Amino acid sequence: MSPISSRRPIPYAHQWVDREDIEEVVKVLRSDWLTQGPRIKKFEDLLCQYTGARYAVAVSSGTAGLHIACLAAGMGKGDEAITSSITFVASANCAIYCGGRPVFADIQKDTINIDPKEIEKKINKKTAAIIPVHFAGHPCDLEEIRAIAKRHKLFVIEDAAHALGAEYKGERIGSCKYSDMTVFSFHPVKHITTGEGGAVLTNRRGLYEKLLMLRNHGITRDRRRLLAKDKGPWYYEMRLLGFNYRITDFQCALGISQLKKINRFLKRRREIADIYDSGLSGIDGLELPCERDYVSSGWHIYVIRVRGRAKRRMVYEAMSRSGITPSVHYRPVYLNPYYADMGYRKGTCPKAEEYYSQALTIPLYPRMSDREVLYVVKRVKEALE
Ligand SMILES: Cc1ncc(COP(=O)(O)O)c(C=O)c1O
Repeated sequence: MSPISSRRPIPYAHQWVDREDIEEVVKVLRSDWLTQGPRIKKFEDLLCQYTGARYAVAVSSGTAGLHIACLAAGMGKGDEAITSSITFVASANCAIYCGGRPVFADIQKDTINIDPKEIEKKINKKTAAIIPVHFAGHPCDLEEIRAIAKRHKLFVIEDAAHALGAEYKGERIGSCKYSDMTVFSFHPVKHITTGEGGAVLTNRRGLYEKLLMLRNHGITRDRRRLLAKDKGPWYYEMRLLGFNYRITDFQCALGISQLKKINRFLKRRREIADIYDSGLSGIDGLELPCERDYVSSGWHIYVIRVRGRAKRRMVYEAMSRSGITPSVHYRPVYLNPYYADMGYRKGTCPKAEEYYSQALTIPLYPRMSDREVLYVVKRVKEALE
């Protein structure tokens, strides 16, 4: 698993798939339903139970979830969605898929989350939605964001790809108490995995029905929703331009089995973060991630900040030579060439750009042993000396 126990490097993230998970997937592979079967609704029901949301729509990826969430919110040509500058590109691309345009707001220095005050500055007549991202699993200032959205009549779509199991003021992320929809990702680096996969959660029945259609080509068979009545039991209508964003039953079987282990996964992630906190605190030029007292972070990733761009690179390279594969989350999205070509410019979010010059993600995943975690601590310290 690591340079200590074998030749494999320590990655920054890794899934936990055990025999129980594999057996559940195999059961479905032997059944009649590979897709569009009963495991999907079961997985969705369990996600609702876990988060407290009323409705869940499981989809083929978190990106697909963000896309149909934006469409369900009515995002279209000329609309703007305000999102964080420090996130994965999908949080912004989803607006473009709908003919809209992402607007990037700067971050808070401590949480690296979108700053509500920066959101206010970016609102104009074209703004349709806010897409806050719970970076690294630390919840955003949802209460403040909700209040802004209410004042300006905007949708809030939480990008919770990093935050399954995180809590904000006693409420689980995904409950949608402060938002219209919440999107999760089940990519293997995330808290639970379905291979590829995601889900959109909501408390609003109207949005739920739209999301169901958008996942499946815009088709409905719901008798109550059909325009034409009594056309026969085979009859369906395509009412929107939707997609095939369906997830399979064997993926959902994996998701169901993984969800049983979520508490254990979260506990181990926190234990590892605690070891890093104590092992790396008090080092000059090194800043550690925070956890505000009214949240419980999901500890999706552990990002240290190394002052000095050259020094960050040096630490990255020293770790790579030691059999550790760190990562950097993230470069401000708008600095990507695609966005530069669209006219987005360096300097848009100064705090995000400064953060990017220092950020380094060190390994954190439930399967890491204490020995491996301590090995990472040792290597970071040595590289900084
Ligand atoms: C913040 C964020 N949003 C969205 C996504 C997209 O999720 P997926 O990879 O399941 O499409 C990711 C995935 O890495 C992510 O980190």
